[in-house]
Amino acid sequence: MPTTITIDHAPAIPEDAELVAIGVRSGELAADAPGLDLGLADLARFEGKVGQTLVAATDDGTRLLVGIGDGTDPAAYRRIGAAVAKAASAQVSVAVDVLSADLSGTARNAAAEALTHGLILGTYRFDRYKEPDPAPALATATVVAKGGQRVTDAVARSVAVAAAMVLVRDLVNTPGGDLTPVAFAKRATEVAEESGLEIEVLDLAAIRKAKLGGLLGVARGSAQQPRFVKLTYRPDGKPRGRIALVGKGVTFDSGGLSIKSATGMDGMKTDMAGAATALAAMSLVPSFAPRLEVTAYLPLTDNMLGPDATRVGDVLRARNGKTIEVLNTDAEGRLILADGLSLAAEDEPDAIVDLATLTGACMVALGDRTAGVMGNHDVLRQRVLDAAESAGEAMWPLPLPDHLRKPLDSEVADLRNIGSGPYGGALTAGIFLREFVGDCPWVHLDIAGPAGASAGYDEVAKGGTGYGVRTLVALLSSWTKLPAG
Ligand code: BES
Ligand code: MN
Ligand code: ZN
Repeated sequence: MPTTITIDHAPAIPEDAELVAIGVRSGELAADAPGLDLGLADLARFEGKVGQTLVAATDDGTRLLVGIGDGTDPAAYRRIGAAVAKAASAQVSVAVDVLSADLSGTARNAAAEALTHGLILGTYRFDRYKEPDPAPALATATVVAKGGQRVTDAVARSVAVAAAMVLVRDLVNTPGGDLTPVAFAKRATEVAEESGLEIEVLDLAAIRKAKLGGLLGVARGSAQQPRFVKLTYRPDGKPRGRIALVGKGVTFDSGGLSIKSATGMDGMKTDMAGAATALAAMSLVPSFAPRLEVTAYLPLTDNMLGPDATRVGDVLRARNGKTIEVLNTDAEGRLILADGLSLAAEDEPDAIVDLATLTGACMVALGDRTAGVMGNHDVLRQRVLDAAESAGEAMWPLPLPDHLRKPLDSEVADLRNIGSGPYGGALTAGIFLREFVGDCPWVHLDIAGPAGASAGYDEVAKGGTGYGVRTLVALLSSWTKLPAG
C-alpha cells in the first residue's frame, strides 16, 4: 500500500516503461502531425494547455500526451506532474518525457524538481482508515531529462522535500482523537531519530515547571495531556546563523467554552499544521541547511471544554511573565504561541519564524490559498516573501498597525487575548504575538487558509497540503546574516 511512488531520473526513455508521457505545447498539435492517429474530437479538446492529457496512438506506440503550455514556467511542471500521475494511475510505471527542450540549466533543474513534486503529491492519498484498495497503484515514475547528475540530484532533493510535505499531510489528516499531543510528540521523536536531531519532550510536570501558563490554560479543558516538543539541529563547528521555528500545535480546536459552531469545528484537526510544518522542515535541515543551528518549539495541546476548562475571564501567566485575560477561549493559538515564542526569544536566535493556523480573519482577507505574513523586521519579512515566491507558495504581507495595540489592553491583566471589534482579526493576532518576541527579528505566517484544502486541485489533495515546507527550505538553505533593524 505505497502512498508515495518512487521517482528516478534517466537521460532517455527507459525500454521497459509501461507508459510514456510526452509533452505538447499549446497549439503545437496538428491533425496531420506525422505518426499521430487522432480523431478530430480529440484535437478539438486537446489544446496543449498546462495539465491537459490525451492518450493517443503514435508510430512509437501508445503515448500519453500532456499539455505543457509554453513550457517555460518551472512552476507549471507541478501541475503537469500531477496530471500525468492521475492519467497514469492505472499503470505501474510511467516515463515522463515532458520537459521542454528550451529549458536549460537552472530552469531545467527547477522544472524537474517541480515535476517530481507534481508526481509525488499528485498521487497522495490518505487511505490509512480505508479498506485496502486491491487495484495496483502507480509505483514508479522516471523523469526523463538531459542534464546528468545535476538533474539526478535535483530530483533526489525534490523527493526529500515532497516526503516531508507528505509527513505534514499525514499528520494533518490524522483525526484529532488519534493524533493527541502525546501521539504527536511520539511521532516527532521518531522523526528526530531518523533525521539526527536532538529532541526534548516536556511532559505535564515539566511544562508546569517551565511555567508555560498559556499552554497549561488551553490544555486545562482536555483529558489529554499537553506536550512541548523542542527539536534542535546543531552543525559541526560554528553555525552561520541560528534560527528558531515556532509552530502552533492544537491537535483539535473545539473552541473551548467559547465553543465553535458545528460547521466551524469541521476541519479543526488541521489546527496543528504549523507544528507539523516546522517538524517536517526540521527533518530537512541536516541535508538542506547543514551550517545553520535551527531549533523548533512546538506547543502541543487540544482545545476542549472539559469540566475544568479555562473560563472566560480567567487570567493566565505566559512564560515571559506577561498576564493574559482570556475573553474568548477560541483564541487559543496565540496563548500557546505566547509560551513558544517566549522560549524561542530567550535563546536569542538571529530570527524567529512562527507558523500557525491562527485566524479565520486571515482567510477572509486573503482567501484560502494565501498565507498572511506579518512581523517586526522588514528585511526578514521580505526574505520570507521572496522565499515563498521562489518556492511557489502564495504569501502576502499584512501590516501590524499601532492603533490595534490599545484594544488589547485589559482592566485586570497585561493583555486581553482578543481585540474589541470585528475588524482586522489577523493583524490583532499578530500584534498580540509581537508581545512575546522581545527584540528578536520575527515573522509570523498565518497559514489558516493554505494549510488545508476543502477540495483537491492540481497536485493538492483535499485535506492537509504540506504548505509552508518549501518556503522554509528556501529560506533556510539560502540564509545569510540579517542586517540590523
Ligand atoms: N484555529 C482557529 C483559526 C482557523 C479558522 C483556522 C478556520 C483554520 C480555519 C483559531 O484558533 C480560531 O478559532 N480563531 C478565532 C479567533 C477569534 C476568536 C478572535 C477565529 O478566527 O475566529
Ligand atoms: Mn480557536
Ligand atoms: Zn485554533
